[in-house]
Amino acid sequence: MEKAILITGGAGFIGSHVVQLFVEKYPQYRIVNLDCLTYAGNLENLKAVEHAANYFFEKVDILDVPALEDVFQRHGITDVIHLAAESHVDRSISDPLAFVRTNVIGTVNLLNVAKAFWAEALAEHLFYHVSTDEVYGSLHDGGFFTETTPYDPQSPYSASKASSDHFVRAYANTYKMRTVISNCSNNYGPNQFPEKLIPLCIHNIKQGKPLPIYGKGENVRDWLYVVDHARAIDVVFHQGKTGETYNIGGFNEWQNIAIVRLLCQKMDEKLGQAPGTSEQLITFVKDRAGHDLRYAIDATKIQQELGWEPSLQFEEGISLTIDWYLANEEWLERVTSGAYQAYYEAHYMKGEA
Ligand code: NAD
Ligand code: DAU
Repeated sequence: MEKAILITGGAGFIGSHVVQLFVEKYPQYRIVNLDCLTYAGNLENLKAVEHAANYFFEKVDILDVPALEDVFQRHGITDVIHLAAESHVDRSISDPLAFVRTNVIGTVNLLNVAKAFWAEALAEHLFYHVSTDEVYGSLHDGGFFTETTPYDPQSPYSASKASSDHFVRAYANTYKMRTVISNCSNNYGPNQFPEKLIPLCIHNIKQGKPLPIYGKGENVRDWLYVVDHARAIDVVFHQGKTGETYNIGGFNEWQNIAIVRLLCQKMDEKLGQAPGTSEQLITFVKDRAGHDLRYAIDATKIQQELGWEPSLQFEEGISLTIDWYLANEEWLERVTSGAYQAYYEAHYMKGEA
């Protein structure tokens, strides 16, 4: 095979879309999905490709160095697309060390194993690190994040991602590894774990449960359909310049309260409910600690240099997303039973939020 690409975190939300795109579009590549299947990892997300001849799954923790070395060896890994991470800001506030372990130490482990395995020809292999716009901090006075905006992470999650970005750049500078980094805004779409705002609200509306809005709901996020992020990762992987950073975003800013109202309106239509029914569930709760006010990505560089742009309008993407959650009730039931109940209890019912 032409390449053997290790995609970490491939059983998660974004990773599953990246794995599916690469397996289907590049039958000439060996695609190895490495994931330890935390609460956020789910092999059901990969049903479409699980029997493909070029798809392989390895249940491995990126904290386990010998297991990583074994995977590189057995599959002859030529490139890495690194998505495995602890990804939820609220969880990082209650357990920062879990984020240091996976996001920082796990990333350094992967860099070390890749560096050693590719030692003879470092320049022929690519380490692609998938990161977030949260590393740039919070925008208060207008403007956008560009690739040269100084890092200013504000939560334990974003501090851990910023740290991993710094390590990737340090390995490029010090050891001359070929690296590329992309920093993306908020994703939404199928397979997203229902702790995140959009699937949480879809799930709660279905169950007639309160829709918890932090603070006044005035915080702003830029939203991108997950398949468009996967398409961008494909473009950056194949055409991105070594050592560069690419910001990925939807030019699609929304206040949280406006998104939740849109979801309520669409859900009322789809569930055949009277207009205004779901809005009654909106409940303002205690704000997230250190809640970043606004993220907004300037995605001009990837648009102009690599020719990528989002394919979907937001309302179309939201409609597809709601349809997916309504059609996949069993998926939703399974991932929200068990441990998720305990998390929900602790976070929303006992006054943490
Ligand atoms: P997710 O939480 O849905 O999935 C993370 C995956 O990583 C899961 O499958 C999990 O099992 C796996 N994983 C976690 N710890 C691991 C470990 N120690 N070893 C091996 N596997 C492990 O996350 P996501 O939302 O799909 O995000 C994927 C990546 O994209 C992350 O690096 C995140 O920082 C970044 N990102 C996310 C967004 C977003 O809006 N969700 C936006 C920009 C960037
Ligand atoms: O910007 C990219 C980041 O987007 C990614 O790096 C993260 O992995 C991803 O989780 C996401 O982070 P956010 O914190 O922006 O996403 P979340 O869905 O948790 O929250 C979106 C907004 O909604 C945020 O302002 C907090 C608010 N919110 C969230 C939840 C879960 C609420 O008001 N109520 C809630 O219950």
